[in-house]
Amino acid sequence: MKILMVCLGNICRSPLAHGILEHLVRQKGLNWEIDSAGTGGWHVGQQPDSRSIAIAKKYGLDISGQSCRKFDTSDFERFDQILVMDYNNLNDVKALARNEEEHNKISLFLKDSIVPDPYHDDDQFDPIYQIIEKRCKELIEEFASTI
Ligand code: 4NP
Repeated sequence: MKILMVCLGNICRSPLAHGILEHLVRQKGLNWEIDSAGTGGWHVGQQPDSRSIAIAKKYGLDISGQSCRKFDTSDFERFDQILVMDYNNLNDVKALARNEEEHNKISLFLKDSIVPDPYHDDDQFDPIYQIIEKRCKELIEEFASTI
């Protein structure tokens, strides 16, 4: 299973989802590929936001080695699932899909709700960490039974 996590900046939400799922996958001994990207390119090459690094560290995870990159249409070929954090991400990634197969790979990370953008609210990092971790655990169960 190859899963790409996508948000707007690829510095706050998707790096957390990337790091948490990668950690769980490794713990379970699954040979999955996990990555993340942003629909916007403002932070390309940068580390995750210091608040995401700090909240991950609080829960025992080091995501400081990640490097921000922009979503690219080649990601449709590289990944089985493209999981996006909100409806803006959904619209932006869907706009780049070139066929039905690519469209079918894209879905909301939380299925029918969004992970809100925490960029302008420091207090959101802990709650979104909890939401993302819970969903990552579910994803392992969901996809592990399909492969
Ligand atoms: P993210 O948060 O999409 O969760 O990484 C944001 C990070 C940066 C910006 C917006 C959202 N920005 O506008 O630079």
